[in-house]
Amino acid sequence: MPDASRFSSLLLDWFRQAKRPLPWRDGYDPYQVWLSEVMLQQTQMDRAVEYFNRFLARFPDVHSLARASEEEVLRLWEGLGYYGRARNLLKAARAIVDVHGGAVPSSAAELSALPGVGAYTTGAVLSIAYGQDMAAVDANVERVLARVFDIALSPKAPEGRRRFAGLALSLIPQGQARDFNQALMELGALVCTPRDPACPRCPLASICLALAKDTVDLRPALPPGKPVVPIGMGTAVILHEGLIYVQKRLPGGVWGGLWEFPGGQIEPGEEPEQAALREVREETGFVVRSLGKLAVIKHSYTRYRVTMHAYLTGFPEGAAPCEPVLTAASSFRWLPLAKLEGLAFPTAMRKLAEAIARDPRLA
Ligand code: ADE
Repeated sequence: MPDASRFSSLLLDWFRQAKRPLPWRDGYDPYQVWLSEVMLQQTQMDRAVEYFNRFLARFPDVHSLARASEEEVLRLWEGLGYYGRARNLLKAARAIVDVHGGAVPSSAAELSALPGVGAYTTGAVLSIAYGQDMAAVDANVERVLARVFDIALSPKAPEGRRRFAGLALSLIPQGQARDFNQALMELGALVCTPRDPACPRCPLASICLALAKDTVDLRPALPPGKPVVPIGMGTAVILHEGLIYVQKRLPGGVWGGLWEFPGGQIEPGEEPEQAALREVREETGFVVRSLGKLAVIKHSYTRYRVTMHAYLTGFPEGAAPCEPVLTAASSFRWLPLAKLEGLAFPTAMRKLAEAIARDPRLA
């Protein structure tokens, strides 16, 4: 079994020269580290850095974030997905200000009690921001450890989880968790990648058991991926006297609190256009007719491949919109095209808003 001090010295020597210049690595401000780690859950580094910089420019400290509206935080988060992270970030910022005097907690108990802060984020913030010797095991770390120690246990199973957490903690050289944890993650992100790892330039190649046994491609031992699910949607852009109807989704679910054009899944035997008109009726009570196709938007998230068929719709000649009867939304607005820019939309809806802006019928 590879020796812990050899492991950490090879890794830390590599990190000193390979370390990426990330914005929060300047001073390891706890607010910035927390923000970066929440963004990095489920998001690639390049995108996270781009959003981090925009977020920090608008909310330079936890007090400014705590004062923000959920609407504004969601708008800044738009495109990152997993919007529960943004809603929890805001709740946690408010708790940090109200309960912790504006300081990101430095104890595991207080930190992990904040919304959106699980075991990984607790370990990451305590080690990276506060220098505490805590493990922070994400998928990158699991992959590196599974390969170097040739571990056949699945990191998704409870026994595997315990094994990886225990091993990660046992490898930390005393007082060096900040660099050690980041180095492990960085190695997983840059060298020990899921596919085509760059073993010839890996600092741990000389001690890697999977490399020696030719099991690199079998580690980590993950359960088979879930199948891809295609989803067809019919969506309606309702136009009335130059204004466009939008509604704010009910709280809860992935897109709770985000804005949308009414629509939904196409039912068996239904044409996309019928689905769009039916969804409008169900979600608002409006009876609209189609004025023709607007766009076909394709968007993937997690394992879903959405094809959204969007139609321009309007009220029949002489008819006017009444107050909608909302069944899928908490509020609605009739807005001119230019005002759609300020709303937080799920990505597919933003793509549709952009398609509307290009449509000659709305020019
Ligand atoms: N390098 C790669 N991923 C990282 C993360 N989540 N935190 C710090 N450094 C990293």
